[in-house]
Amino acid sequence: MSGAPKTIVTVAELRTIIALWRGHGDKIALVPTMGALHEGHLSLVRLAKKNADKVVVSIFVNPAQFAPHEDLATYPRDEAGDMEKLQALGTDLVFAPAGTEMYPPDFSTHIEVTELTNGLCGRSRPHFFGGVATVVAKLFLQCLPDMAIFGEKDYQQLLVIRRMARDLDIPVNVLGGPIIRERDGLAMSSRNAYLTKDERARAPLLFKTVTRIAKALSQDGEISEHIQSGRAALADAGFDVDYLEVRNADDLTPLAGSVAEPARVFAAALLGKTRLIDNVAVPEKK
Ligand code: PAF
Repeated sequence: MSGAPKTIVTVAELRTIIALWRGHGDKIALVPTMGALHEGHLSLVRLAKKNADKVVVSIFVNPAQFAPHEDLATYPRDEAGDMEKLQALGTDLVFAPAGTEMYPPDFSTHIEVTELTNGLCGRSRPHFFGGVATVVAKLFLQCLPDMAIFGEKDYQQLLVIRRMARDLDIPVNVLGGPIIRERDGLAMSSRNAYLTKDERARAPLLFKTVTRIAKALSQDGEISEHIQSGRAALADAGFDVDYLEVRNADDLTPLAGSVAEPARVFAAALLGKTRLIDNVAVPEKK
């Protein structure tokens, strides 16, 4: 097995290595992460390995995407575990910049993607997508990869990043990787570590609910009816529902009535102190 992936902390080092690879004609993939890597992240690294010659994984807990009341200070961190997992997958390079490398004290630029960010997570986390778009634009420009890979668990984030890259003419192919789930259906997330034993046992109901709604809508039925019963089931199990909605899968336009276009069911809810999100595609009507 090869050794631990080389880890670098400066943009200058990143650019030097990327230039070397480019000189050899290598195709480069970037997998941006905030660390505390789980099987969901690792599936993105595998996808990157399949599609590119060299894979860079960035690890940076981005303060700009956390509101002051959110969990920046307690966000799970596991540097040693992350390196072991990345080594096992044959990751070529880890970019783990310090906060000051990414944001010098007089940092003054902010990227805001409109429209796509109006609802869903954008409503209850108004700071979030601006912070994500800004850091991902920086990572794209620092690394200039051929492709970058993001999980579909944060489906709205994936569309926002794709739009940002297109709007700013950043020539990066933005790819989505499917959601990886625990055996009981819970979408993998670094924040699942916050769940108590009792909450963990109830958490799969979020996936069960969005799946049940998606199946029902693929057969028949009114969106509002299914949403209402889904909300009630989640509330009964102690979830504090932020949103449960059906939206167009391509541009996130809210849908009502019956489904007649590519659609997804989106949910976010607090279970105790943990915010869980999930989404599934509505299967095409037969
Ligand atoms: O999905 C994440 O982990 C983060 O939002 C990202 C894309 C790495 C930006 O900080």
